[in-house]
Amino acid sequence: MAVRVENKVFYLETKNSLYQMKADEHGVLRHLWYGPKTEQDMDYLLDYPDVGFAGNIYEADTCRTYSLNTLPLEYGTAGVGDYRVPAVAIVHENGSNALDLRCKAYRITEGKYSIPGLPAVYAEEQEADTLEIVLKDTATEIYVILQYGILEEYDIITRSVIIENRGEQAVTLQRVHSLCLDFPYGDWEWIHFHGRHAMERQFERLEVFHGIQESGSVRGMSSHQQNPAILLCEKGCTETSGFCIGAALMYSGGFQAQIEKDQLNQTRVVMGIHPDTFSWKLEGKDCFYAPEVILSCSNEGMGALSRQFHRIIREHVCRGKYKLEERPVLINNREAAYFDFDDKKLLNIAKEAARLGVDMMVMDDGWFGKRDDDCSGLGDWYVNEKKLKGGLVKLVEQVNDLGMKFGIWFEPEMISEDSDLYRAHPDWAIQIPGRKPMRGRSRLLLDMTRKEVRDYLYQAISAVLDSANVEYVKWDMNRSISDWYSAELTPDRQGEMPHRYVLGLYELLERLTRDYPNVLFEGGSGGGGRFDAGMLYYCPQIWCSDNTDAYERTRIQYGTSFFYPVSAVGSHVSAVPNHQTGRVTPFGTRAVTAMAGSFGYELDLNTLSEEEKKEVTAQIKRFKKYGPLIHNGAYYRLSNPMEDKFAVWEFVSPDQSQVLVHGMIFWTEANMLRYPVRLQGLAAGKRYRLEDTEQEYTGAALMEAGILLPRSRGDYAPVELVFTEVSN
Ligand code: DGJ
Repeated sequence: MAVRVENKVFYLETKNSLYQMKADEHGVLRHLWYGPKTEQDMDYLLDYPDVGFAGNIYEADTCRTYSLNTLPLEYGTAGVGDYRVPAVAIVHENGSNALDLRCKAYRITEGKYSIPGLPAVYAEEQEADTLEIVLKDTATEIYVILQYGILEEYDIITRSVIIENRGEQAVTLQRVHSLCLDFPYGDWEWIHFHGRHAMERQFERLEVFHGIQESGSVRGMSSHQQNPAILLCEKGCTETSGFCIGAALMYSGGFQAQIEKDQLNQTRVVMGIHPDTFSWKLEGKDCFYAPEVILSCSNEGMGALSRQFHRIIREHVCRGKYKLEERPVLINNREAAYFDFDDKKLLNIAKEAARLGVDMMVMDDGWFGKRDDDCSGLGDWYVNEKKLKGGLVKLVEQVNDLGMKFGIWFEPEMISEDSDLYRAHPDWAIQIPGRKPMRGRSRLLLDMTRKEVRDYLYQAISAVLDSANVEYVKWDMNRSISDWYSAELTPDRQGEMPHRYVLGLYELLERLTRDYPNVLFEGGSGGGGRFDAGMLYYCPQIWCSDNTDAYERTRIQYGTSFFYPVSAVGSHVSAVPNHQTGRVTPFGTRAVTAMAGSFGYELDLNTLSEEEKKEVTAQIKRFKKYGPLIHNGAYYRLSNPMEDKFAVWEFVSPDQSQVLVHGMIFWTEANMLRYPVRLQGLAAGKRYRLEDTEQEYTGAALMEAGILLPRSRGDYAPVELVFTEVSN
């Protein structure tokens, strides 16, 4: 078992880490340690200063050194003298909000807990252990159950929380964070991923200063603007050395991560559903389940930490037929045609794509209802036969006859006011009575909390999937949510709607992915506006960004790579000048960048020169050859494209016999100096040959001294180097 309890100290051990807590003499659950293994009760580290204005619990009597405000706690609460950011805040029946939690019991079981209605890391019985610690409020019947899943081999600990109201009267939950992590010492920095539409997950590293820093979203979605995943690292931590911790929330709605450095230089991290768009009336005898946080730490830098997250997300978050399978190379018609297409145009694109080796044709926005621009049609998920003559069946058959699979776009959560659906059910759109609703990209949202709405969507989508051989669905979502109000909810429950929306979305996704196990679902939200571990539970890949500019993609994909595996990243080669930026990058560079993902094309291949067409076939061949290495190999960031003059990354096969170094040199210079780059993750004693040369290197040389990147001519030159083990 990866969990043991000795003298009321809980030891949660993974291959390389120890997580430790202690139920102290007052039953308060203190956090003691999360870091490398120490084989030690870490209680000795705690100091008990008598800090003025830090209150003492009643049982401490005249002892002024025992304070909830100064002790590292496992789950900080509001209202009882811990003035740091709380993990949980509740309003009781009498209006008070104190919550004083004491340890009552614990349970250790084999296997990994699951969470009703919410995605969670899953594992075989022998792969994980679960620890549940039951805390109870000293004055009421509120119980807080802290859940820990320990995946020893993966160096992963998951956390989640259940609030149980064993009393008779309802209480209101104002905040239920899934994670609370206290560190009594340390000089920390934190990394978060901010951005905007078409510019997601921009890496930013900041000093943790006194006070509170925060990353979050109140948009009802995890958002382009911040991502629900952060790192905390010791100063000086690099890709290959130093201590760091990662926390990824498995949730697709609004979230909050707060980091507070307090008066004693202690640091607290909390993470969970954003309290500004959350409240929950918890009836007597009822439970509330918070989403899960995936935690991991590394004493060998951020690269190792990322690889731990890649492995757990790929193997124990993503599900279904395609989770480990190579994905079809697809062509999407969006940037080739936008709304201006019919069956002929699509077939024309498909024919050339099939000839050049593409596996699947994806028909994007515009195939349904009355949909020639952004202003109408959403909700009417039946084929527009004026555009697709002969209907979907005929088109799919024709595409299949070319030897290609067929995929289709939906934006299920949306409704256009100019749609048959809206005319029939205006009340299904989210809007507050007496107020004009906010429109976003000319659309409203459906109230996903309502069962009849979800049933309608299930039927509408399954009717399309049943009608023809559709093997892929792109599930899009193109606006932030506002005007929270549901006719189904009483006024005292309106604050529940943002979370209920996410629960509704998950329920629908669960039904569809369960009933259509052979369909590959790809998530997306204006590109990467809902790129999170929650969505990856249903969709093993997500369209990474609407920005297909290869240069900017290196930065977006760099940020994405800190938590999410390469196979999860939808990434396509598009036309130049790029539609988002006007930038022109070489064809080869666009392909290399898109290969760091689930690869495809987003242009009309008919428009390419014969030379470029040949190159497409060669690119697809290369991707088929190296796809398994790219998706199953270990991923290494060899540069920081936010600072360096190049972006270079590397894939190493599990047996370290094959190494792929990909990337781009941003700008050329006259008399250019070549950039040295050290490889990582090779076997020092092995010899490697550089493809197409006779040159051999030891793994040690490649890692200790590195290689010189090719001298580039022209801006954005690609880097593509393959090293293969030389067998003696
Ligand atoms: C946003 C997506 O990210 C795009 O790829 C495309 O599908 C459009 N929506 C269609 O409206």
